Amino acid sequence: MIEVQHLSKRYGRVTAVDDISFKVERGEILGFLGPNGAGKTTTMRVLTGYIPATEGKAIVAGFDIFEQPIEAKRRTGYLPETPPLYPDTSVIDYLGFVARIKGVPAGERRQRIRQVMERTRIDDVGGRLCGKLSKGYRQRVGLAQAILHNPDVLILDEPTAGLDPKQIIETRQLIKELAGSHTIILSTHILPEVSQTCQRVVIINKGKVVAVDTPDNLTARLRGSETMYVQVDANGADASSALGRVPGVTRVAEAERKDHCVSYEVDSERGRDVRRDLARTIVNSGWGLLELRPMRMSLEDIFLSLTTDETPAPATDGDAPAEAAPAESAES
Ligand SMILES: Nc1ncnc2c1ncn2[C@@H]1O[C@H](COP(=O)(O)OP(=O)(O)O)[C@@H](O)[C@H]1O
Ligand SMILES: [Mg+2]
Repeated sequence: MIEVQHLSKRYGRVTAVDDISFKVERGEILGFLGPNGAGKTTTMRVLTGYIPATEGKAIVAGFDIFEQPIEAKRRTGYLPETPPLYPDTSVIDYLGFVARIKGVPAGERRQRIRQVMERTRIDDVGGRLCGKLSKGYRQRVGLAQAILHNPDVLILDEPTAGLDPKQIIETRQLIKELAGSHTIILSTHILPEVSQTCQRVVIINKGKVVAVDTPDNLTARLRGSETMYVQVDANGADASSALGRVPGVTRVAEAERKDHCVSYEVDSERGRDVRRDLARTIVNSGWGLLELRPMRMSLEDIFLSLTTDETPAPATDGDAPAEAAPAESAES
């Protein structure tokens, strides 16, 4: 439904987007995740035809955005970072105007506007001036104008930025409802956003794609070994050597100490489940087992390890180029 091939965008000497390629399947929600300045907005502006690319190719809804821009644009809805509202126009009038310029047939406009206002839950503010709306409502009116002509593709630039937690949950829900009948790319610099909403994630940093995968796979792929979090009441004794003797355990590190209770991070060989043996060792030693749980790498950790220049805990003595680790794990 969307195919981006070797796309680059330079602003003078600044390379904002540097040779990126990815695909989005029909009905999918793709998360475009990266820190501020990564090139998300630039990519979206290129895909929606607002700015030309410097190099590369992109197909949106079956049309080449550079060779058939009108056809591609007709099938695309775009929510920019700041929704393009007219402050002195009422919500209804604004949507009427958008419906006209997007070519919604005159006889269908009223009904279409009503449907979209219900869907985005703005039917209670139809008469209000756009300039007087709260941030949450402005964002929803922005979403309403993006879906008004029922486009195949939706491109949403940080749709939940600046919203309060309740509005964020509502907006996520709305986006999920829109998937299926629409193919969606949404950008965010907030990590939980992609695991909550998206089936696949493209992580970009400094204009380059550093990983493409599902949120779950990214987590699993970047986990070098399994780590357990174990909290023990060993009555003052040091449990670490006993834990270290459990078969399969490769490392035990003290994480926290509070009165009698000590927490450890226990690494084990990949694919080896040491939980039963850890529990047995602790209980057989007469200690209290207070907690035992796997520590999964959070998307936050993944993001950091993919997008910071230093490779965390390098396997070699720092000779490896910093880019090597992300590049290896970044194939689509
Ligand atoms: N109109 C512009 N002129 C020059 N540089 C720009 C322009 N727009 C964006 N940039 C630069 O391009 C890079 C990517 O920006 P942007 O696409 O807005 O990133 P993001 O949306 O991921 O925060 C940044 O370094 C930014 O400063
Ligand atoms: Mg941006």
